[in-house]
Formats: sequence, structure tokens, C-alpha cells
Amino acid sequence: MLRLTGVEEWRSYCDDQRLANRRVGLVPTMGALHAGHTSLFDAAKDHGDVVVATMFVNPRQFDDQGDLDRYPRTPDVDRAMAEAHGVDCLIEPTLAAMWPDYPGPTPTTVTVRGLSDVLEGAHRPGHFDGVASVVAKLLTVTGPCRVYFGEKDFQQLAVIRQMVRDLSFAVDVVGCGIVRDADGLALSSRNVLLGEDARQRALALSRALATVTAAPASASEHRRTLREIVSGAGLDVIYADVVDPVTFAPSGDADSGDARALVAARIDGVRLIDNGPVVLKGEP
Ligand code: PAF
Repeated sequence: MLRLTGVEEWRSYCDDQRLANRRVGLVPTMGALHAGHTSLFDAAKDHGDVVVATMFVNPRQFDDQGDLDRYPRTPDVDRAMAEAHGVDCLIEPTLAAMWPDYPGPTPTTVTVRGLSDVLEGAHRPGHFDGVASVVAKLLTVTGPCRVYFGEKDFQQLAVIRQMVRDLSFAVDVVGCGIVRDADGLALSSRNVLLGEDARQRALALSRALATVTAAPASASEHRRTLREIVSGAGLDVIYADVVDPVTFAPSGDADSGDARALVAARIDGVRLIDNGPVVLKGEP
């Protein structure tokens, strides 16, 4: 596995792959890798791509300094996992290479209005600007590619799809299914911050989503079920909503068909999110 840090060598590597008629599969990460990330490496490998993974903890997407400080960092384990899953080139760009003005403000920001302002965006001001800006930079340096994201961050995926469409990046966005532990907990780099008791109670998120996924109901009923199960387990619900899976407009009780349920909750200071598909049974 090749390891690079500089933007120019990263750009040349990707250019060389395309010149040799190989397709680049980019997997952006912030490190602290788990089986959710390695499933993205495996998906890129299965597509026959040259797998390029980036590891960069992007400070611009953290609205809370404490959250950034606590974010797990396990670079040696990450490198071994990436290599074991067939990553061809691991990019670990420096902060100075990514955001030369940091900690000062970076004048250029990509904002995807609308999608970035609801749910996660409403509770984490500037978060999706930070995500869209860093992903725009990763795609600009990498060049034409397939780019892989997990559906665990379902809203992030929607924001990136919109940005790619609006800015005509020569990129195919591939969304990959959520990877869960055997007990249902969606894998997240933040799970290591949970104590044993908190981890048990955190299962309420996946339980709530499994419940609403299992049977059609109106949007209000789905919202009520999500809240009851999650708050019943002693978690602080940040939001529990049902929205259109593309526009993220809140679903109404007259709506029927496919929608997405998304939940965020805090437990012992750790913020967790999860989501799943639901069917709406419109009320006449
Ligand atoms: O999902 C993540 O790990 C991050 O938001 C991403 C896409 C790597 C951007 O920093």
C-alpha cells in the first residue's frame, strides 16, 4: 500500500491511474476505521477500482471544539486495516495542505442550501458546509472517480449527491448500506466512547428504527414510535423525524410511499445517529 501526504503527489497518482485506464475509487474517511469503512474499501475493490482512501480529521466540520478533541485517532491501526482490505493508496494529508489558513477562517466554502439546514444541520451549525467543502477539495484533487459513502450518514450522502450534481463533478457517488454490530448498533467511530451501560442503552436507536421499518404507518405515528423507544431507554432525543429521502422535506400525514426515518440522540455526552427506510401509510 502506497502512503502519500502531499496534494501534488496524490493528484499525480490519480492522474497516472486514469492514464493507465484504471478507475479510481475514492473512500474519504476521518480515520478511526471500523467495519463500516472497510465495507466501503471492499465495495470499491469489488467494482475493480484502484482504491484510494483519505484519512483526514476535518476540523471545519466540527461545530464543537470538545467534540473535535475527543474524536478518536488510531492511525497505526487504521493503516493496518486499510492495507488488509486492499487499499492501494492511503492519503493522509496535513492540515496545512488541506486548509492553509487554519485556524483562521478559510475564505472559500461550499454551501448546499436547504439540505444542509435541517436535522443534523439545524443542530450543528456549519457542519455540512465543512463536509461539503472538504469533500469538494478531496474530489478536486482526486479528479474523476467513483466515491463511496456509507448510508449511516444519510443526510451527508444527500448533501454530497446534490453538490456533485450542482457543480458537475466528474464523479459517480456510490451509497453503501449501514454496517451494524450483531446486536444492531450502527457502527460509528464514536461508539468507542460509550461505556458498557451506555452502549446497551444506545441499542434503543436501532430498535426504534427496526420497529418503524417493520410496518407502514403515518409520519406522525412513526415519529411518535421513534421518540417513545429512544427516550424510554433514557437517551436525550435530539431529533426523530421522517422525511422525503431525496429532498429531506418533512413527511406529512397525507403522504404515502417511501420515506426515511432519521434519529439523533445523546447518551453520556456522546452523540449518536442512525436511520432507516420507512413506508408511509397516508391518512385519508
Ligand atoms: O463521513 C466522514 O467520515 C466525513 O464526514 C468525511 C466524508 C470523510 C468528510 O470529512
